[in-house]
Amino acid sequence: MSKVRYVILVSLMVVLSACGTVLHGSAGRATEIVERGSLRDLAVARGFYIGAAVAFAPLSANEEYRDTLKREFNMVVPENAMKMGPIHPQPTTYSFGAADAIVKFAEANGMKVRGHNLVWHEQMPEWIKGGKFTRDELLNILHDHIKTVVEHYKGRILAWDVVNEAIGDSGALRNDVWLSVIGPDYIDNAFRWAHEADPKAKLFYNDYGGEGMNGKSNAIYTLVKGMKERGVPIDGVGLQMHISLNNPPSADAVQANIERIGALGLQVHITEMDVKIQDGAGTLDEKLAAQAQLYYDMASVCLKTDPCKAFLTWGFTDQYTWITSPPGRPDAPLLFDKTYAFKPAYGALGDALAER
Ligand code: XIL
Repeated sequence: MSKVRYVILVSLMVVLSACGTVLHGSAGRATEIVERGSLRDLAVARGFYIGAAVAFAPLSANEEYRDTLKREFNMVVPENAMKMGPIHPQPTTYSFGAADAIVKFAEANGMKVRGHNLVWHEQMPEWIKGGKFTRDELLNILHDHIKTVVEHYKGRILAWDVVNEAIGDSGALRNDVWLSVIGPDYIDNAFRWAHEADPKAKLFYNDYGGEGMNGKSNAIYTLVKGMKERGVPIDGVGLQMHISLNNPPSADAVQANIERIGALGLQVHITEMDVKIQDGAGTLDEKLAAQAQLYYDMASVCLKTDPCKAFLTWGFTDQYTWITSPPGRPDAPLLFDKTYAFKPAYGALGDALAER
């Protein structure tokens, strides 16, 4: 956003601050927010990564988007640009343009990059979905894909989500093309090939719904424990944290889960947090306050639990979010509103980062 708009916004919030009690991240904290620095300043001061998913279209077209991103975050992850469909649209064609632009933006602004992702059951290219491949053919395709993409960015990606969402909601491996044609060893192979292509990149298994202690997180734990025992080069688990005001995981359960993953010698990143409010109770202000509390709780757990090294949100402004809303129930899952004004969730995340 332009300096002038930023100043106007902050002044407005300073006025508002005169008349509010202080809850986590209430708008009344704007003065404090500005005095204590951006989320990025607070994260850097304690050697932590605070990041957001980035979409190529607004990054190219919207200055306010770019300015907010570089002011507030020291890590980015491409929201779609590195997925197999977009980056490998034809068997022998790779399309690196959008992902290259995001990586260059990050490097020009001193930000780290998470790579997302190498193997997933969604956003696959048509030629894989429609192809009838043998096990050997699909193994070769996967190897070529991982080697080409990871080598292309060698030395420039701090952590890769190598395999995304391989476990279904029942806790069993998802019966997608990778499992049905190759078998369960596609996972170990994917990590080995990624490690060969960029030995310094940290390699993650990333999934949703397994943030707290439940059947899904037990299945993730069992999978990555087995990988460690087999000597597969895995460094961490990404907990996506797409949550809603209804039924969020408890902070204690998330802490216990992070600790047991850490005991395997693995790191944790919170990789994709957003908080849906459309199903919450109360007024809009009440929903935004409850949302802020969840951002505070989850960030605090990550910050105080040693294996957790990074906290990323899936976008940062409600102007661009993948969360869809039914008619009449608009949503607002992120830290900034559509005009890039601070939401209570922004203040709450800053509160968590400022606490020691
Ligand atoms: C989503 C993107 O945000 C959307 O733009 C896209 O249409 C679908 O994918 N878990 C993941 C992410 O690992 O890659 C997904 O991103 C959100 C859920």
